[in-house]
Amino acid sequence: MMLVNGEVREEISAQDRGLHFGDGVFETVAVDTARALCLDRHIRRLGEGCRRLAIAPPAAATLEEECARICDGVERGVLKIMVTRGVGGRGYAPGEGASPTRIVARYPWPAYPASARSRGVAVRVCGTRLGRNARLAGIKHLNRLEQVLARSEEDASGCAEGIMLDEDGRVIEGVMSNVFMRHGRVLTTPDLSACGVAGIMRELVLESAATLEGIEPRVGAMSVDELSSADECFLTNSLIGIWPINRLQGQAIEIGPLAHTLQSLLVESGAMTRD
Ligand SMILES: Cc1ncc(COP(=O)(O)O)c(C=O)c1O
Repeated sequence: MMLVNGEVREEISAQDRGLHFGDGVFETVAVDTARALCLDRHIRRLGEGCRRLAIAPPAAATLEEECARICDGVERGVLKIMVTRGVGGRGYAPGEGASPTRIVARYPWPAYPASARSRGVAVRVCGTRLGRNARLAGIKHLNRLEQVLARSEEDASGCAEGIMLDEDGRVIEGVMSNVFMRHGRVLTTPDLSACGVAGIMRELVLESAATLEGIEPRVGAMSVDELSSADECFLTNSLIGIWPINRLQGQAIEIGPLAHTLQSLLVESGAMTRD
C-alpha cells in the first residue's frame, strides 16, 4: 500500500525532482504490532533533512496520521516515508513554488537470518568508498548510489553486510547500517560530520550506552585495524536493531556482552522489534 500526498496511489509525476536529481529525503521505519517504532525520531530526522535541503517539511501530524493508516492491522512490516522537492525549477536550480511530494509506503518485513541478533553476522570491507561532503553528511537523502554500487560488488563470501570507508580509509558505516566497536569500557562509533547517515538506532544506542555503568560512549575516528582488534563490534539500523559482528574479512571476532545488553534494553523500551 502506498499513499502519495495522502491519496492511495502509486504514481508521481515524471517531472518530480526526486527522480531527476535525488532531490529529497527518506526514512525507513520498523512496524511491529501496528506501531511504527520511534516514529517521532524518524519524523524529526526527516524534518532536519528537509531543512538542510531547504524543502518545506510536512507537518508531523500529517505524517503521523498517514503512517497510522498504512500501519493499521500490520503485525510486522516496513514503513518508508519519502519527501521530495516535487515538480519545479529548470535544471538543477530549485526555482520557486515547487510543492513537495510526500510518499508513505508499506513493505513486507525482510527475511533476515534468524540467528543474526544472537550469533552475529560476517562482514567484509567494501571497495566502493564514500565521498566526503559536510553539507550532505548525516541526513538520509535520496542519493544512494554509493550504497547501490557497494551492494552490487561481487561478493562470494556470503557476508550479510559491508563496511564502507571514506576516501582516506576511515571506517564510516555499513552499507545499510551504522557501526560500533568496544575496546574495554570505550564504545566508539564513527564521526559522521563529513559523510554517512546518522542513524536513529545509532542515536538510541549512544543514549542507552550512556546509562550503563562502566561504558563510555564516544564518537570519533575508526580504522579497519581498530575494528578488527575490538573486544566486540556491532551494526545497527532501525530494522535489524543490533547485529553483533562475528567475522570481519574472514577473521573471527568475539561476540561480547554489550551488544546483547543493548538489544534487551532497546527491545524493552519498545524501540526495537522483539526479533
Ligand atoms: C547508509 C545507511 N547508514 C545508516 C543507516 C542506519 O539508519 P537507521 O538507524 O536510521 O535505520 C541506514 C539505514 O538504512 C543506511 O542506509
